[in-house]
Amino acid sequence: MAVEHTLSIIKPDATRRNLTGKINAVIEEAGLRIVAQKRVALTRAQAEGFYAVHKERSFFGELVDFMISGPVVVQALEGENAVAKYREVMGATNPANADEGTIRKQFAESIEANSVHGSDSLENAAIEISYFFAQTEIVG
Ligand code: RTP
Ligand code: MG
Repeated sequence: MAVEHTLSIIKPDATRRNLTGKINAVIEEAGLRIVAQKRVALTRAQAEGFYAVHKERSFFGELVDFMISGPVVVQALEGENAVAKYREVMGATNPANADEGTIRKQFAESIEANSVHGSDSLENAAIEISYFFAQTEIVG
């Protein structure tokens, strides 16, 4: 295994309920290190650009509306096997299918308002991290 970086986003449903600290605790307890973090209000253009891979999906418009409905916390996470590891810690997209102890099982409200995003491949992780952070903002 190698040390990897992945992009995490704490979504508006979670920031609205003041869950940033609780979610960060789950991340850190899983052995992942938060090496960059900022709270931002995404513009519509930023949210559309970030989720461009989903632009043909039926839920794209709703997803963008949701992601700009409140602040998000964008984070770069570092750790052994971080991409797959964080997907495991997040749990399934639909919280009804998420395993016990995962972030989505504990905190998600619905398949859309599912509290966190995590990159789905090492290649996308690099693209997504550079979408939000300069290399100088990532401090391991
Ligand atoms: P994410 O990209 O946010 O980490 O989530 P994911 O890989 O588990 O799920 P993905 O298929 O990439 O979907 C991206 C986000 O779109 C919303 N979604 N809504 N209404 C729906 O049926 C639906 N399906 C997906 C969720 O917020 C999901 O995380
Ligand atoms: Mg995804």
